[in-house]
Amino acid sequence: PLKITKILCIGAGYVGGPTCAVIALKCPHITVTIVDLNQARIDAWNSPDFNLPIYEPGLEDVVRQCRGRNLFFSTDVDKGIREAELIFVSVNTPTKKSGVGAGFAADLNYVELATRQIAAVATTSKIVVEKSTVPCRTAESMRTILEANSKPNCRFDILSNPEFLAEGTAIADLFQPDRVLIGSLQTREGKDACAALANVYSNWVPENKILTVGLWSSELSKLAANAMLAQRISSVNALSAICEATGANIDEVAHAVGYDSRVGPKFLKASVGFGGSCFQKDILNLVYLSESLHLPEVAAYWRQVVEMNEYQKRRFSKRVVDTLFNTITGKHIAVLGFAFKADTGDTRESASITLIRDFLSERAFVNIYDPKVIESQIWLDLSEACPNMSLESIKKQVKICNSAVEAALNTEAIVIATEWKEFKAVAWTEVYEHMKKPAFVFDGRLLVDADELTKIGFKVYPSFFFFGSVHSQFDKVATIGRPTA
Ligand code: NAD
Ligand code: UDX
Repeated sequence: PLKITKILCIGAGYVGGPTCAVIALKCPHITVTIVDLNQARIDAWNSPDFNLPIYEPGLEDVVRQCRGRNLFFSTDVDKGIREAELIFVSVNTPTKKSGVGAGFAADLNYVELATRQIAAVATTSKIVVEKSTVPCRTAESMRTILEANSKPNCRFDILSNPEFLAEGTAIADLFQPDRVLIGSLQTREGKDACAALANVYSNWVPENKILTVGLWSSELSKLAANAMLAQRISSVNALSAICEATGANIDEVAHAVGYDSRVGPKFLKASVGFGGSCFQKDILNLVYLSESLHLPEVAAYWRQVVEMNEYQKRRFSKRVVDTLFNTITGKHIAVLGFAFKADTGDTRESASITLIRDFLSERAFVNIYDPKVIESQIWLDLSEACPNMSLESIKKQVKICNSAVEAALNTEAIVIATEWKEFKAVAWTEVYEHMKKPAFVFDGRLLVDADELTKIGFKVYPSFFFFGSVHSQFDKVATIGRPTA
């Protein structure tokens, strides 16, 4: 197969940056250039003190080893296109906000613009690789655009190569992926292009983990993988509601169920709801695809995974209000964690944002602490989440703190919204002393040792709830059929 020596990646975000940095590290014979329209982002990738635009454990080390050697960051997209043999398109594909399919379909505008630019600028043949998550058959549209706009003697082969990395573990996932998936047309040229990309990965990925399939299967597999992962979380979260109403412990139930080798133990952690830029977006995309294909039952099935997630977030903030004696107006709540999961500074679709929005609408005061999220991002997210409030009024109700202990000072409740390890090691006895009493902890991640905190004096949700409500539930059951006096 064609030996690739020059790779371009369009899009220097959470996927393009780490993925292509790792390719540069593992393939010193390949020159990798990552371009973006966003000058600030590129400047950060190039910053002399490696103040990179995204936080990801191990990423800085990879960039330190390769930057300036065979890894380059630039805003010169045209130059990058002209020089490359293989181009990853790794731009954002957010949910459409308006027009046909608003709220469900993926916005493919950025993919299309990047594709048109490739067609307009390329003077030699290229392999164009869809790295972004896209609806099934997007490669077909890309090919049509490329072929309609290309110069003579320029041929374009399109591959689908979805990315399965998870944030917070991106570098480990890229070093040792469960699999690399490459989709191509089953023509001779398609298979040759596929082999050329497989050759890049085989520099560090065992060949039995490089799966080659048809283009449409590859595109759909990405949506399917995210839908099935999210479905596990919604299933376990649905069960957590039953646990809280009966006194069963969701961690114990998940553990028992996950012991079945057919189910497996991973991705069964009950939570305040999943967040992140992918799960909700990709499921809604699958829902839209199903509807477009006149498969309403299929659409309804997947939609329920997102609805259960919304329910879980609502249920959690309602629990906080109910427990704090049905009102949180004027009360102070500490929210620990603002990122959508641990080990990332990314806040996209973070459950924390929804909770804080709910608390603010009840006119509570909120103290926020997150080890990695930058302050300006918090203000941006809260402004977007609370369109009826000015930033000034948000700032009157919200304080951003530098530690969990500071955030907890003089509050009536602590909400754990992100599973940062350091929240386990908080000086809970000290925190307890500085809080108003009764002091509540709402553990949205089942992170802390509820027994230990209860011994200190905290009232810990979900476990205390068992005593609060189960009796009344059982009382109701016991009274059925009993004659009233
Ligand atoms: P991102 O927003 O972090 O990065 C996308 C970048 O592309 C932005 O910096 C943007 O400025 C740039 N861009 C957009 N149009 C451009 C153009 N025409 N030319 C040059 N640059 C352009 O997004 P992300 O999180 O990296 O996601 C990218 C894609 O990968 C999405 O389709 C997403 O669904 C998919 N994906 C994301 C993850 C994840 O964990 N974040 C995992 C797997 C797949
Ligand atoms: C996900 C997929 O895992 C990854 O393969 C894909 O490429 C991109 O989307 P990501 O969103 O980065 O990755 O993180 P992930 O670890 O999947 O977590 C998503 C959300 O689910 C987080 O909010 C996390 O806290 C939550 N989660 C995860 C749970 O609530 N319970 C779990 O058991 C696992």
